[in-house]
Amino acid sequence: MTVSYNSLPPCQSLRVAIIGAGNVGRTLAQRIIQKNLANVVLLDVIEGLPQGIALDLTSAQGLENYSCQVVGTNDYQETANADLVVITAGRGRTPGMSRDDLLAINAKIVADVAEKAFKYSPNAIFMVITNPLDVMTYLTYKVTGLPAQRVMGMAGVLDSSRLQTFIAMELGVSPANVTAMVLGGHGDLMVPLPHYCTVNGIPIIELLDSQTINRLIERTRNGGAEVVKLLKTGGAYYAPASSACITVETIIKNQSRLLPTAAYLQGEYGLNDIYIGVPCFLGCGGVQKILEVKLTSEEQEALHISANSVRKNVNLALESIGIK
Ligand code: LAC
Repeated sequence: MTVSYNSLPPCQSLRVAIIGAGNVGRTLAQRIIQKNLANVVLLDVIEGLPQGIALDLTSAQGLENYSCQVVGTNDYQETANADLVVITAGRGRTPGMSRDDLLAINAKIVADVAEKAFKYSPNAIFMVITNPLDVMTYLTYKVTGLPAQRVMGMAGVLDSSRLQTFIAMELGVSPANVTAMVLGGHGDLMVPLPHYCTVNGIPIIELLDSQTINRLIERTRNGGAEVVKLLKTGGAYYAPASSACITVETIIKNQSRLLPTAAYLQGEYGLNDIYIGVPCFLGCGGVQKILEVKLTSEEQEALHISANSVRKNVNLALESIGIK
């Protein structure tokens, strides 16, 4: 009998480049390698930071039993030929700030990193996490010139997971039984869809009164700010990283899961030339299909109000970095 001491499963040869080694970037790196999804290149401008995090994560490899590797770098050349580029670089919020307050500073950062990452990975799918999310995703699309289905923004999964959690807490049921759907921009004007939220298929509108549902929706809208207020020195990162990891997994395993994602609209939901959160089937081609679900007239109006606000900020951001 042959005994193999090589018990770790071989890691896939896929490569994910994460730009920005802040809390979201580094936690996402940890999730990806611990799930053995892909090798990770973690890039940051701060010398030593991504290298230190990579060494620390690698030192847990034997304990956590994963075989994917993480490398830290300050050099974009090392991100070359990534299958997926995830942009987390940029400033986070401090208490009292809205996501839109980050517009000018993060527009500059995202335009710069998207251009550099694209140079070395022109065939990658780009996923944006930096806020204000929908605007930064549009900028990445513009700067890279990639086909729209290869650029997307991750936020709807996070907003939906917050609503899922609050529904589960309210009803005292397992969150695994709850599905929730939040569309629109990743901001105060996001559009939760209560009639598409269920407990194992039962719409929550049959289980909770409208006042309670509105309270949970309000908490979801403020979910990010509630964490910022408690932490005082930064924003949420565990749930954002988990949401991003689910999205990464869906893409690299070509699972075609239906996830609310900031996608480029060309007439869907009556909107054009804009990135905003809508239900999408994601797979190895990126956004494979945008699903147009039936909305009430109030929801449709709320989506358009959210889109108008994103559009206004896109114009400001493009102007601030000198792109027409
Ligand atoms: C939040 C940030 C990541 O919602 O936008 O927590």
